[in-house]
Amino acid sequence: MRDIAIIGIGMMKWGELWEKSLRDLAVEASLNCLADAGVDRVDTISIGCMSGGIFNGQEHLASMIPDYLGFKHTPAMRVESACASGGLAVRTAFLEVASGMADYALAVGVEKMTDVGGGEATYGLATASDQDYEAFHGINFPGLYALMARAHMTRYGTTREQLADVAVKNHRNGNLNPLAQFPSLMTREQVMSSVMVADPIRLMDCSPITDGAAAVLLTTVEEARKIKKHPIVVISGIGLATDTIALCQRKDILKLPAIELAGQRALKMAGKTIRDINFAEVHDCFTIAEIMVMEALGIVEPGQGGPATSAGHTALNGKFPINPSGGLKSKGHPVGATGVAQIYEVVSQLRGTSGKRQIADAKVGMTQNMGGSGGSCVIHILEAKS
Ligand code: COA
Repeated sequence: MRDIAIIGIGMMKWGELWEKSLRDLAVEASLNCLADAGVDRVDTISIGCMSGGIFNGQEHLASMIPDYLGFKHTPAMRVESACASGGLAVRTAFLEVASGMADYALAVGVEKMTDVGGGEATYGLATASDQDYEAFHGINFPGLYALMARAHMTRYGTTREQLADVAVKNHRNGNLNPLAQFPSLMTREQVMSSVMVADPIRLMDCSPITDGAAAVLLTTVEEARKIKKHPIVVISGIGLATDTIALCQRKDILKLPAIELAGQRALKMAGKTIRDINFAEVHDCFTIAEIMVMEALGIVEPGQGGPATSAGHTALNGKFPINPSGGLKSKGHPVGATGVAQIYEVVSQLRGTSGKRQIADAKVGMTQNMGGSGGSCVIHILEAKS
């Protein structure tokens, strides 16, 4: 396999973007990415989108997006793995270039979720859960994560305050991110008094409904060294794993085997342990998710995610900063775009261009992007190279 570098990143401010269509979002992020790379060549395009059909009545994105981007006839494909669709698009682009099938691969993640009402958005998201064993019975993602949160509180003594502290920390980081949907600062009390969604999950424990896109351009390290526009950032490890979709089919609802396995695979490929990673962007679709992911990746021992958060270990200046971008909670969660936007943030940190939210001495970063309640997971390890 050839060594791969990320030479371009593109996004826009996320939110409720009435004036932009699904295709506008994908094209804008891609053009920003190509401008950042200073390159006008794309040999192949992979598109991560969870459900253009349900949210926008639009499928066949693998033809529509290249066309409107000015790359008609370019080989392109759409990949889908629920909220992990974006991470999967980046992995697909990696394989294209690493295998020698292409020299320049664009990965775009996009979702426009506010064209439908709240009920329909919840229905659309719930299609990523198990229809027979979960959705049919009326449970949705806030409900599934509420089950995990309650079990975590019972087994480990995780507190309501600790859950709130995840949101407080991520809004603190998002407040420094000009592209975040909800950059407002949030206090523990505000989180804990926000409206109840599914006990113990409250509104401010949830990632929001978001419109947005992100794109990254990959090529070989050899090509990147010729272009020399930015410091080199390489993808040194990738892990992909799947699991049952339904929580009730797992042996233990407090374990996330797909996250554990994807993490081990990515670290093995990079020749690293979790102690070699300086910071991570993780999938905090709900506050409990960030806590459980930290534990599944071995950043902390099981049950220690809550205490570590409240002690400040995951803050920007903590031992292991998590979600410097503000995470899904504050930056927003246009589901198919999230995995690509996580890469955007890690590249920006490794280039040293993250402004007020820059992590000191960031050399090795990780992204963890998962589908549903852990039915799929894609992990990338990125490194700054001289
Ligand atoms: N941070 C700050 N403010 C937020 C927010 C957030 N994360 N999310 C919503 N808000 C605000 C909105 O701006 C709105 O404020 P306003 O009344 O002043 O306009 C208010 O809170 C209500 O938001 P709204 O989007 O209307 O709420 P809703 O009831 O339609 O939806 C949820 C709330 C929690 C049900 C919805 O956001 C949701 O389903 N989130 C989870 C998404 C999900 O499951 N993703 C997949 C994960 S696997």
